[in-house]
Amino acid sequence: MTEARTAIVTGAARGIGAAVAARLASDGMKVAIVDLDQDACASTVDTITAAGGTALAVGADVSDAAAVDAAVARIADELGAPTVLINNAGILRDNLLFKMTVEDWDLVMGVHLRGAFNMAKAAQKFMVEAKFGRIVNLSSTSALGNRGQANYSAAKAGMQGLTKTLAIELGKFGVTSNAIAPGFIVTDMTAATAERVGVPFDDFIKFSAEQIPVARVGQPEDIANTASFLVSEGAGFVSGQVIYVAGGPKD
Ligand code: NAI
Repeated sequence: MTEARTAIVTGAARGIGAAVAARLASDGMKVAIVDLDQDACASTVDTITAAGGTALAVGADVSDAAAVDAAVARIADELGAPTVLINNAGILRDNLLFKMTVEDWDLVMGVHLRGAFNMAKAAQKFMVEAKFGRIVNLSSTSALGNRGQANYSAAKAGMQGLTKTLAIELGKFGVTSNAIAPGFIVTDMTAATAERVGVPFDDFIKFSAEQIPVARVGQPEDIANTASFLVSEGAGFVSGQVIYVAGGPKD
């Protein structure tokens, strides 16, 4: 049997990241749970270890290059060379353009785009050395444009360009890079959006489901299933793609 691979999932203390981490662990990977606060990673780590898997809690702000370098070095040391990376950490700072501050623009760019860049840069050397790697970046249907999300939409479109460029640069080293662009997924992030627009979360979910061809909203496991395929050994010829996981077609 080959040695278990080490995966890194950012923003994995909760939501989509936690579900992806649990899924990769059940697929047999050792998983580093990276989030802002190391203690907040405990519940994801506990879920994985209770199911017989291996997980490590790592506190780091992905937008901070020095923190990322230290985190990735620690992960390589404690779990083994990381060859799977899920860039999932994300934040919202929604506002209409005329009210959006430059700080909220920079914050969103910093977490999504600089964060994914920092993580990919730190992890790629282990992937190139191993002649195997899998990078999955979380984009969004908002990449196609969304009212109140000039910052987030631009960042999520940027994730798609980053994804394709990493696919082109790293392909010859056995490294693939793909993006998942989720639609509505039930998490604290969408709950916060419902609160911001003043709609009870259940009504927000019901209204959203009515607009979705499969007639339901997404769950974190829907994204975990897709990520599990993209990082699998058998997905080596799938690279530079953006997969919309939104219950229906998107352009
Ligand atoms: P969430 O808000 O529930 O979880 C995000 C996690 O990222 C949190 O644990 C947070 O602490 C962490 N995080 C934030 N900034 C960080 C930083 N600088 N460094 C490290 N960790 C940081 O969000 P959710 O819904 O699980 O979203 C995960 C990803 O999926 C995000 O990139 C989001 O933009 C994307 N997405 C979510 C959708 C949804 O409907 N929930 C739809 C499309 C995309």
